[in-house]
Amino acid sequence: MRREQCAIQTVPKSNPQSAIRDSQSSDVQHLKIVFVGHVDHGKSTLIGRILQDTDSLPEGKVEMVKKACAAEGMEFEFAFLLDALLEEQKQNVTIDTTQIPFRTLRRRYAIIDAPGHKEFLKNMITGASSADAAILVIAASEGVREQSRRHAYLLGLLGIKQVIVVVNKMDLVDFSETRFHEIESEYQKFLVDLGLEGRCFIPASGKSGDNVARRGEKLNWYQGPTVLEALDALETQRADVDLPLRFCVQDVYRFDGRRIIAGRIETGTLKVGDQLVFSPANKSSVVATIERWNAPANGPAVAGDSIGVTLSEQIFVERGYVASHESETPIETNRFHADLFWIVREPLRVGHPYDLRLATQDLKCEIVSIEEVMDSSTLEAKTDQCEQLERNEVGRLTIQTRGPLVIDNHDRIPNLGRFVLVDDGQICGGGTICGGVYTDRQVAKSKNIFWSEGKITAHARAARSGHRGAVIWFTGLSGAGKSTIAQALERELFHRAMHTYVLDGDNIRHGLNSNLGFSPEDRVENIRRVSEVAKLMADAGAVVITAFISPYRMDRRRAREIALEGNAEFIEVFVDAPLEVCETRDPKNLYKKARAGEIHDFTGIDAPYEAPEDAEIVVHTDQQTVDESVATILEQLLPRLRAEEAIE
Ligand code: ADX
Repeated sequence: MRREQCAIQTVPKSNPQSAIRDSQSSDVQHLKIVFVGHVDHGKSTLIGRILQDTDSLPEGKVEMVKKACAAEGMEFEFAFLLDALLEEQKQNVTIDTTQIPFRTLRRRYAIIDAPGHKEFLKNMITGASSADAAILVIAASEGVREQSRRHAYLLGLLGIKQVIVVVNKMDLVDFSETRFHEIESEYQKFLVDLGLEGRCFIPASGKSGDNVARRGEKLNWYQGPTVLEALDALETQRADVDLPLRFCVQDVYRFDGRRIIAGRIETGTLKVGDQLVFSPANKSSVVATIERWNAPANGPAVAGDSIGVTLSEQIFVERGYVASHESETPIETNRFHADLFWIVREPLRVGHPYDLRLATQDLKCEIVSIEEVMDSSTLEAKTDQCEQLERNEVGRLTIQTRGPLVIDNHDRIPNLGRFVLVDDGQICGGGTICGGVYTDRQVAKSKNIFWSEGKITAHARAARSGHRGAVIWFTGLSGAGKSTIAQALERELFHRAMHTYVLDGDNIRHGLNSNLGFSPEDRVENIRRVSEVAKLMADAGAVVITAFISPYRMDRRRAREIALEGNAEFIEVFVDAPLEVCETRDPKNLYKKARAGEIHDFTGIDAPYEAPEDAEIVVHTDQQTVDESVATILEQLLPRLRAEEAIE
């Protein structure tokens, strides 16, 4: 709906040729193309030429611009035409995205104008305009420039794999075949290094029109397609509609006594009667009605639609929530890995607070660590420093948000797998999320259960006790020292007048979980119950310390999600000691028994332990004393438990 609003109407209805095209192309999907290239490499001229030669300009527009040029004593250029169009569009619409339509015999296209990195990133993130393919313009006279490389990197980062390279301004190099091949071989190599494929390289001239819509006579040494032919040969990307549902909530309105949840369907489809799960709260409800503006209500809604829904059971939902179907839920986390492209002068710094925007979510975050840094133009990896990211560098990083974030891996659902970082209201970088772990959400078996929202808020509790509720999740082998350190930590917190309690594996298995053994299924259930109990206690305002082997990464992920659903802090602590050390300690003589075959499924001996890859805190109990380990934990923990943070 929005897209149509912002598209300027350029096809003159009186034109018979266009009428034929209308009828031929009405049923074919339209393709979104982004044009990128180094400044002055002729991007605007090429766009202007395409619009002119496909008869896509509003009637009289060329004459108008020509007249204006003559009045100023300037030679007419297509670039002016584009400027005029964009100017006009800007006055008509209020949204950032500018899309210029044109059509060929095969289908309709929308050009997404991306004047710079920032606008490009912004458009990509708002989702209003993610492109299916890109045209990358390189001027033959100047050759491959820094930005030609950086733009390509950005395209790769955003998952735009289809790239047509137009070697423009061939008229300035006498239509030289040698020059063309020089550029082609240099740039092709770069694209390959990036994992992109240059669909084709086209020698062309936007100014003279050679090889844009028609073959260029002076380029008859070239046998490949023209720009329009190359566009028509592109395939449509896997449509967003075929992906799992992600309905991103923009706002909740009260209207006629009903609560309407308004938002945009990023991917998938949504129907009346669908059971939706809202993340991060993980509450579910059924779609009662679908409301739309300017369209019949209640028909299925699909990717790209902005709609409102009402639910059959009222649950708390607010801006930033993401609805999905139960079978394909997104990831909820406060810690994830990403590739980030930094675009501003002020470098990105570890520990500095940024705003993270992803779909309709907006959260404070900080960079925990930078694992790798690369220059987006040379693709050279820097190994020496990983403390900051300079302009035009790309980093592989770990990011931690204050509060739960709903994400997807970029290679699964790009729309929820990309984000921007904002500092002081300014977009500073764009990134894509990778390597997130999807967990199985437990869906309530019983029907007709309702969630009753308590009247005493987490803030109120925190204000009284002076600290937030939290789950400190210890994981590690048996004998690594989890219980010992947990108890020492509990004592420290207690002396600071905090509400705290240790949930310990052996103890819980005496009562709540006495019906569970050590089979993989039982361990999963053990951890699930503990996660839920810990969440409730954290909700009651306590700092809960859990000491369980919790050998599976997936279960710990789920524990994090469960805690975040309750809006508690979750901090994973890896109590690390090599197996040999634990075995030598053997406080309960269990390793000996396991080696003798008297106990089975013993972790580390004949059952697996999956060590954490990115725990917030790691203590090495073979090298640190108990006091040192506790000090390490407290140092990171205390600032995060302060009540002011919760009240902020
Ligand atoms: S978990 O794997 O499900 O997280 P949990 O932490 O609750 O395990 O319990 C581990 C404790 O149970 C160990 O510290 C140990 O004392 C005891 N235990 C008894 N049998 C086993 C076993 N087969 N594997 C691991 N721990 C065992």
